[in-house]
Amino acid sequence: MTRIVSFSGSGLDLGALHDAMLAAFSDYIVPLQPDAATFKAALSARGFDPEASFVAIDDNEVIGFWNVATRNTKRYLIGSGTRIEHRGRGLASRLGMAAIAAAQNAGIESFWLEVIEGNTGAERLYRKLGFEVARKLDCYRLEHPSPDRSSCALSDFGTVATVIQRYATWTPSWQNATDSLDGAQLTPLLHEKGGVLIGAGGLVHQIAASDPCALEELLAAAATVGSLTLVNVDSADSALCSLLQKLGAHRFIVQSEMRLSLPNVS
Ligand SMILES: CC(C)(COP(=O)(O)OP(=O)(O)OC[C@H]1O[C@@H](n2cnc3c(N)ncnc32)[C@H](O)[C@@H]1OP(=O)(O)O)[C@@H](O)C(=O)NCCC(=O)NCCS
Repeated sequence: MTRIVSFSGSGLDLGALHDAMLAAFSDYIVPLQPDAATFKAALSARGFDPEASFVAIDDNEVIGFWNVATRNTKRYLIGSGTRIEHRGRGLASRLGMAAIAAAQNAGIESFWLEVIEGNTGAERLYRKLGFEVARKLDCYRLEHPSPDRSSCALSDFGTVATVIQRYATWTPSWQNATDSLDGAQLTPLLHEKGGVLIGAGGLVHQIAASDPCALEELLAAAATVGSLTLVNVDSADSALCSLLQKLGAHRFIVQSEMRLSLPNVS
């Protein structure tokens, strides 16, 4: 018999969750098979909350999961999946309903997630649960034609984060939010009119400037670390998106950020 329980109440460890994740994502729309250390680090950076997360268990094996993070009055779906042989039985729906009910009972105001364009099954599931698209997010890879650090200086995280916040016109998605970057190895570059925070592997977590010229110089400076990946650029940021396209960046994923607003039950 299948049980739906919170991860904290399941008595299972992250290894069981990792096994289930690898199986459920083995036919995913993009390759996603992290090793155990990468999986655990990603959960931890995003604020994985074992009490807010739910698993479906059959014969002591995780056959479906909703991995959820909490920050203040928000919850975020880090990842959901059902093992291939157990799909189409309503497990993801039951897990989602359990996670939403738990969020509501905890006084959470909104539940967030991202879904890749083209993952129609998952998007239909989220819409069925009441989520609506809040904005579109684009992911780019950039081999910059002429990297150049001269306009920027290496600085510290706090200074650059504050400057970015001053000039930003949109909020970073969950995984790029300042809270998710705590403890990460970052290269913070400061421009007199903006800044950029670059993580491992050339991941651009945050970038903002007061004018398009400064933005262009910031991207050139960031590219001195190597090839750049920008995950979850707000598609409404026309200055950044057109600059990336002008520089020959490849848009490799479009995502929908979805939100479920929860009524106050207290
Ligand atoms: C998406 C996923 C979690 C659904 O799991 P599931 O346990 O089979 O889902 P359910 O049986 O609860 O189905 C829930 C709803 O999802 C939608 N859905 C699920 N699979 C679908 C498919 N292949 N085609 C169309 N709709 C689908 C349907 O609306 C369905 O409700 P309905 O049957 O009342 O119409 C599963 O297919 C999966 O693990 N996919 C790979 C990983 C993934 O994409 N995760 C989501 C990342 S954002």
